[in-house]
Amino acid sequence: MQKNSFDSYAKDYDADFSFSPIGKMQRERVYHFLTPYLQSKLNILEINCGTGEDAKRLSALGNKVDASDISEEMIKVCKEKKIENVNFDTCDARNLLSKYKTNTYDLIFSNFGGLNCLSEKELESFASDANQLLKKDGILACVIMGRKCRWENFFFRIKKDPRLNRRKTTEGLKTQINESVFNTYYYSPAEFAQLSKTSFKLVKHKPIGYFVPPSFFNSFYKNKLWILKLLNVFEKLFAQFSFQSDAADHYLIILQKNGD
Ligand SMILES: C[S@@+](CC[C@H](N)C(=O)[O-])C[C@H]1O[C@@H](n2cnc3c(N)ncnc32)[C@H](O)[C@@H]1O
Repeated sequence: MQKNSFDSYAKDYDADFSFSPIGKMQRERVYHFLTPYLQSKLNILEINCGTGEDAKRLSALGNKVDASDISEEMIKVCKEKKIENVNFDTCDARNLLSKYKTNTYDLIFSNFGGLNCLSEKELESFASDANQLLKKDGILACVIMGRKCRWENFFFRIKKDPRLNRRKTTEGLKTQINESVFNTYYYSPAEFAQLSKTSFKLVKHKPIGYFVPPSFFNSFYKNKLWILKLLNVFEKLFAQFSFQSDAADHYLIILQKNGD
């Protein structure tokens, strides 16, 4: 993962994902499960913050937010939004201790797959850094792309697309954004918990996008919004259970810092 891998996507990211119907539905679902952890005013570190939509929301809820992303262009977009009470900075999630103070945060948050850019080794090291940055009993909440997304596999199967089961790779999957090529690593909830277990204990995980499909379906549903809305009703009613997490597009995993 290079510093500038996501730079060329920064200007289009909100239109493509954050403000798209699927992006909005999936983000609402994240907050549905995250809200019990946002009941008091917290000191929050958001990593892989992208265009700052979560930082904006978390700060509007009265939390103190530091937010960072490896991409300078993403951080530029955040700053252009003139979001109040958030400190935006460029920082690599693999090097957080160079920027942020230890024993400072109640919650570290990573939304929508930023941590899927880290290899197993990098993820273990990230978990150790996150443990040090959190206060006692602090929470790490991450939205991760799992390995068995039903929607993706269904679509690739009927299209006879060779990308079927692409998330099963253990090597990292070559991913291209415009000119930039980097690896994406998929993790099941059990793998993610295992890689962080020296620093964190698993609290729970929940599916995000089990009935609501991955965002590459946005164009397909453009003129069939009612179907998407119906799928979102199913999501709210029936996508509650941790056994569904790995089969969803993403899952939210909540971990708590191991005792000092
Ligand atoms: C799919 S976007 C998610 C953005 C945002 N969290 C959201 O919810 O919309 C992934 C983000 O992770 C960032 N990212 C990838 N690798 C990173 C790293 N090593 N350190 C910090 N940010 C990283 C990218 O620059 C990109 O903005």
